[in-house]
Amino acid sequence: MEANLTALGVSRLDLVYLRIGWHQPPHGESLAERFEILAGLREEGLIRHLGLSNVDQDHLDEAQRIAPVAAIQNLYDPANAGEAALAARAAGEGIAFVPFGPLGSGRGTARDERYAAVARRRGATAAQVALAHALALSPSILVIPGTGTIAHLEENIAARTLTLTPGDLAGLS
Ligand SMILES: NC(=O)c1ccc[n+]([C@@H]2O[C@H](COP(=O)([O-])OP(=O)(O)OC[C@H]3O[C@@H](n4cnc5c(N)ncnc54)[C@H](OP(=O)(O)O)[C@@H]3O)[C@@H](O)[C@H]2O)c1
Repeated sequence: MEANLTALGVSRLDLVYLRIGWHQPPHGESLAERFEILAGLREEGLIRHLGLSNVDQDHLDEAQRIAPVAAIQNLYDPANAGEAALAARAAGEGIAFVPFGPLGSGRGTARDERYAAVARRRGATAAQVALAHALALSPSILVIPGTGTIAHLEENIAARTLTLTPGDLAGLS
């Protein structure tokens, strides 16, 4: 925490996630002891909002008994029913759902050919369709694509203006 505050030159971090799994939620593992520490730092005013990463609904329940949860950052997988249910719950409870790896972390995704087909039709890039698809899944979804290039950064920001049609979405589901 202190290293983060110093590096960023701020007196409070806006959002701190507790990550308990690595890409997948560790079902059945308690997060209480670790989340209580972050909740204490929030009480001290060093953190504004708390988030969770790589968690399931039981973890969210456990955390919410300790302190409010503002965001959840889990692996992007629209075909995973557990993730879809968690994203729907997040939307209902005003929690941001922030899926990581929307572009497959540079390794491609299982939907790449379908993204490319929609992209050709819509005059966009496959990456833009992938991001627009994630954004279309729920109003509470925020995307955090990583990039090391300005060209991709601009391309990814422009994806917010791409609204997929019901026909586009049907082809991607
Ligand atoms: N909570 C967790 O457990 C967890 C795990 C992994 C990642 N994350 C977070 O998720 C965020 C994104 O993760 P990520 O960077 O691994 O995955 P990602 O956003 O799915 O993919 C990034 C990769 O996509 C490429 N890319 C970006 N924009 C592109 C574009 N328009 N066209 C083609 N390729 C493009 C990038 O290459 P270029 O550099 O060439 O653009 C990079 O190789 C980060 O903030 C990271 O910290 C969290």
